[in-house]
Amino acid sequence: MREWTREERYRYLRDPQEVYPLFERISQSSYRQLFHNQAVTGLMNDPNGFVWHDNRWHLFYQWCPWGAVHGLKYWYHIVSKDLVTWKNLGICLIPDDGDGYDNKGAYSGSAFPIGDKMYLYYTGNHRDADWTRHAYTCLARLGDDGWTEKYPLPLFGANPNYTEHQRDPKIICLPGSDTYYMIIGAQTKEKTGCALIYASEDLQHGWTFAGELKVPGFEHFGDMWECPSIEHIGGKDVFLFCPQHMSLPGRGGSQNHNGYILGSMDWDTLTFTPDGQFHVLDFGFDSYAAACANNLQDADKAILIAWMGLPDVSYPTDEEDWAGCLTLPRELTVRGRRLIQQPLPELKKLRDERVETATNEAGAFRLPEAAELELDCRPGDVHLSLLADEAGEGGITIDYKEETREILVDRSGMKTRFNLSEGDSRMRPLESSLFHLRIFVDRSSIEIFVNDGDAVFTSRVFPTKEEHFAKITGDTFIRMWTLKPAVKDQFLI
Ligand code: FRU
Repeated sequence: MREWTREERYRYLRDPQEVYPLFERISQSSYRQLFHNQAVTGLMNDPNGFVWHDNRWHLFYQWCPWGAVHGLKYWYHIVSKDLVTWKNLGICLIPDDGDGYDNKGAYSGSAFPIGDKMYLYYTGNHRDADWTRHAYTCLARLGDDGWTEKYPLPLFGANPNYTEHQRDPKIICLPGSDTYYMIIGAQTKEKTGCALIYASEDLQHGWTFAGELKVPGFEHFGDMWECPSIEHIGGKDVFLFCPQHMSLPGRGGSQNHNGYILGSMDWDTLTFTPDGQFHVLDFGFDSYAAACANNLQDADKAILIAWMGLPDVSYPTDEEDWAGCLTLPRELTVRGRRLIQQPLPELKKLRDERVETATNEAGAFRLPEAAELELDCRPGDVHLSLLADEAGEGGITIDYKEETREILVDRSGMKTRFNLSEGDSRMRPLESSLFHLRIFVDRSSIEIFVNDGDAVFTSRVFPTKEEHFAKITGDTFIRMWTLKPAVKDQFLI
């Protein structure tokens, strides 16, 4: 794997033409997605600033232009009218090329409209000459021409009572309240993960530290919490966050997780009282830094998009100098003690043609490179091999056992293996028998929605030319569609 020097990772992009050859090269890759957002060049990680404003959805992503490496991060801007098809708008937040507050990256954050203007809240990742880290919470206004105007001074610097790991501001606006809140991921001096809350009556000024979020029972849960947010969904509060550097049963060697706790939030005492345990948001291999949209018309709903990737791991396209993509948008609801995630209803617009699943002598049928499969399942064991070979062998498998009601996704049959330390399989016990599967296959990803969103498994996959078949056993009724392209490789910086 390529080694990057610090100079290479933090190289400042002066002229878009510098990455044009890279753009041309990676747009030839057979793993470029057809209906998932991906980096224009180089690396994409967290979705940022997901917001409804000016009659369209805005979304930004953490972007390092040069290759599959976490270096100097910009915000890249994309927009959509329907959350189905997306358009590139170009670079948006540019780190300072001197000694400014964000000189080593415009890190993750959120967006919020004030009047007819949109404001971006982000972490200025500053490094001194001796590489000491300082975190600043910064504000920028998005101009009508798409360019941002950064406020000359940050809203505030790092809280001295915590380590410098303080980042990812998310604005929280409570209906009927005069106070706005901002939640920030942080680390205590004892190296435990936590979240800090700031408050203000004015979104642009006067932010003061309100206190550390208390989450009884979660005082020692990972050493840093990234990308926290508190959402109100279906009358319940949900605390979403990414605890780092800890192991969880059934998650292989994975050290970084994206999950949630249901409960109730008391904004007066800044206490989130859990009503149950920590749940992993996604049972697949590649999902992190999920972001819920701000400024939804219905304050009791939530729409989530996550990074289809993980920190500290590498992917087969690293060698092609690009990495990362985003998940499909999902609607969140609460059922019992779980968060339910379903593909947005609008995503049915992606369906192009209904295709027959005529099987060959081996019982396998051809999978289009962009496809949606919907299966109704009758009680009993079900087995699917997806992205298998013509004989229906190998691929990524889904195995449901009626006796235990467990569903298992196993990627060990794929020819291109990667991130082996994360393990080969993921299992989830279901609330009821398996009755429904909805599966979205793009050129290098697979998202499996089980039982109307009771569980989701999201994974990157890198099929070879031979791995484009599927085989199903069990009492199921299947429909399959080819999907229309919804993103375009378009060179706009
Ligand atoms: C999560 C994260 C954030 C940070 C950003 C930097 O993946 O580490 O905490 O703001 O990525 O790109």
